[in-house]
Formats: sequence, C-alpha cells, structure tokens
Amino acid sequence: MTGEPHVRSIDELDVSGRRVLVRVDFNVPLREVPGGGREVADDTRIRAALPTIEELRSRGARLILVSHLGRPKGEVVPELSLAPVAKRLGELLGAPVALAPEVVGDRARALANGLSDGELLLLENVRFEPGEERNDPELALSLAELADLYVDDAFGAAHRAHASTEGVAEQLPSAAGRLLEREVNTLRGILESPEHPLVAIVGGAKVADKIAVIDRFLTLADALVIGGAMCFPFLRAQGHPVGSSLCEEQDVEHARAALATSGEPGTASLLLPTDLVIADAFAADAEHRVLDGVDVPEGWMGLDIGPATAAAYAAEIGRAGTVFWNGPMGAFEMERCAAGTRGVAEAVAGAPPHPGLGGGDSAPALARFGLEDRVDHLSTGGGATLEMVEGRELPGVRALEAQGVSL
Ligand code: 3PG
Repeated sequence: MTGEPHVRSIDELDVSGRRVLVRVDFNVPLREVPGGGREVADDTRIRAALPTIEELRSRGARLILVSHLGRPKGEVVPELSLAPVAKRLGELLGAPVALAPEVVGDRARALANGLSDGELLLLENVRFEPGEERNDPELALSLAELADLYVDDAFGAAHRAHASTEGVAEQLPSAAGRLLEREVNTLRGILESPEHPLVAIVGGAKVADKIAVIDRFLTLADALVIGGAMCFPFLRAQGHPVGSSLCEEQDVEHARAALATSGEPGTASLLLPTDLVIADAFAADAEHRVLDGVDVPEGWMGLDIGPATAAAYAAEIGRAGTVFWNGPMGAFEMERCAAGTRGVAEAVAGAPPHPGLGGGDSAPALARFGLEDRVDHLSTGGGATLEMVEGRELPGVRALEAQGVSL
C-alpha cells in the first residue's frame, strides 16, 4: 500500500543452510480413526501453510515448525499430540515429517541440529509447555535457540501474545510468511480501501461474540447483512416474537444499540430476514416449514433464513464491490436448514471479480458446498480476523513490526 513502510517478507531472508523456526497454525480438527488413533478431519490450515513451507525448503532452509493444537493448558495431553498433523503434512509434501517428542529440550535441539538443507521437523504441541500462553521469556529463548531465523505464518494465532508468536519474534531476525502477509494485507485492504459498495455479512449464533464487528461494519460498510441465530435478538428488539429461537436478553440489548446506530446518517443499511425456516425442535427429523414473515410462533424456532431473504441477500452481494463474510445463515449442518447459507455462499463465490473474504465459521460452510476455492480469499483466522476487524492490534503482527517488518 502506498505510503506504508517497507515490508520484510521471506524474500529478504537468506535462508539457505539456516535453521528457520516457522510458527504455523496447525490447530485443526481431529477425528477418531476406527481401530484407534486420530487423524486430521480438515486440513485447510495445513494446506494454507504449504506455500511458505515449500518455498523455504526449496531455498535450502532447514525448517523447524511450531504450532499449538487445542487448549491443553500447559499439560501434555496425548490426544492433542501433533502426530496426526505430521502425518498429514508429510502426505501433502510427499516427504516425511519428523515429529519431535517435545517442544524444547535436548531431544528437540538434537533433531533440529541434525536437519539437512530442505528437511523439516515439527515440534510437539507448543501448548504442552506451561510458558507458552504466559509468554514466558525463557520459553521464547529456548525456542529461539533452536534456530537462526524466525518466520511467522500463523495468522490464526496472531491475536495471541504467546511465547511462540510474540516472545520469540523479539529474539531472532524475523519475517512474515506468505500466508500471514496475505491475510493481513487482504483484511487491511477490505477495512481501509474497499471497493464500494462494501457488503459485510455477519452470521453465527451470538450477537455478543461479534458486537464489536457489527459496530465496526456499521460505520465502514455500505450494507450489513445479518443472518444465523444472531438475527433473533434484532427481531426481538424490533418487537417480533421469536418463539423458542436462540435469543439471549443481553444480545437483545446489543441489537437494540446496533439498530439505533444504524439509523444514523452515514451508517450501513442493516438487512434483516423477512422470512425464515422454522422447526419444532433443533433436530434434522423435526417438523420444518417456511414462515412467511418473522413472527415465530410459540413452540417453534428459527433455524435458517427463508428463501425470500436468501434471494434479497444474494442480490445485495451481487451488487457489492467488496464482500466480507463471517458466519453461517442458519444450522447448515442439517440439510433442511442449509438453503440460506448455501444461497449466500453461492452469491459470495459467484459475485463478479472483487476482493472478497470468507472464513472463520463460514469456512466449513463454504467447504460443505464445495465452494472454498471460489472465494478470492478464504481466511484461516477465526478470532484473529474478528479482532482485526474490531480495530485491535494483533500481538503477533506487532512483534514482527517491532522488528522492522511492516505489513
Ligand atoms: C484458532 O483456532 O482460532 C486459533 O488457532 C487460535 O486458537 P485459540 O483460540 O485456542 O488461541
């Protein structure tokens, strides 16, 4: 971007023959395998890190990958071992990936020092170390001692000020990996210089989780489209009965405030459902019907936006210059409640070429409909994306910038 300081990417690191510690976000869902053990259920985040990994390998780097998986809270939890990730990464790279039996220590150091050019090692789950989440300087130093250089490619963890994201960046010459760079620049582009109209689609279950995102887009976007269970607090605030739909009192207050803001000049137009798919229970085999209107009868709950709403939302998305999508429109995991999310996913994927971003909890929806490759950019960030939209500085990015790396 013009006027922005110089960007230090991996282009400017001389990595040949050097040990490079690469922070990746391999926090991926696992599933049980019949007969025992676990395997990676969704490898999106692993594939997203491949460009950086493959480029560094081809340039002769000796890679030491570090990631968290789940929230073991400083304890060794065997179910959260990165072994299934090492296996999947090896399959994707077509090369074996050794897994260190620990994060730092003599065995990890020996394995790191034994790497040849282009080889890679995955350290065990960094959150097995009690010092990780409290950003312990000693752990940061031990991680730094494994390598000569540090590359951060873990956008999904950039909102965490942990030893492997923030602390270690202060200890070694650092650069941003391709994924982190692309994520930050795409999101900054959407927030700072979008092509108008900017249409933000926010869905999911709870208003409270995304209230700051809603507030930001009310001032930034041209249209703010609301779907998922979070539409019910808005509808209730407008005086509609919501039946047994998910709707917390605290969320109604948030929604009321957002509705008041949306009436002010210069703010986004707020789009809410005009029809719904309702069911008599949260179950695939419950009775479902389309409700013409949004007054949900007693004993029924809204589980998707209705067809008229989906068409109106798709039309709004079709007119967009830039799209941001975070959160499904309904309980899309159940086929009879999937049409609204599918309609929005197809509109986002099919809209004319424009910068668009999907991700967080919309990523599984795009994957379910086979559309994940059709959005411009599918973010790997959940909380990191939301915090950036909220206008908060990400510690992982700040640590790189403190090193002279500007994104
Ligand atoms: C994520 O899944 O959003 C990131 O990997 C961060 O995980 P965390 O919320 O456990 O820090």
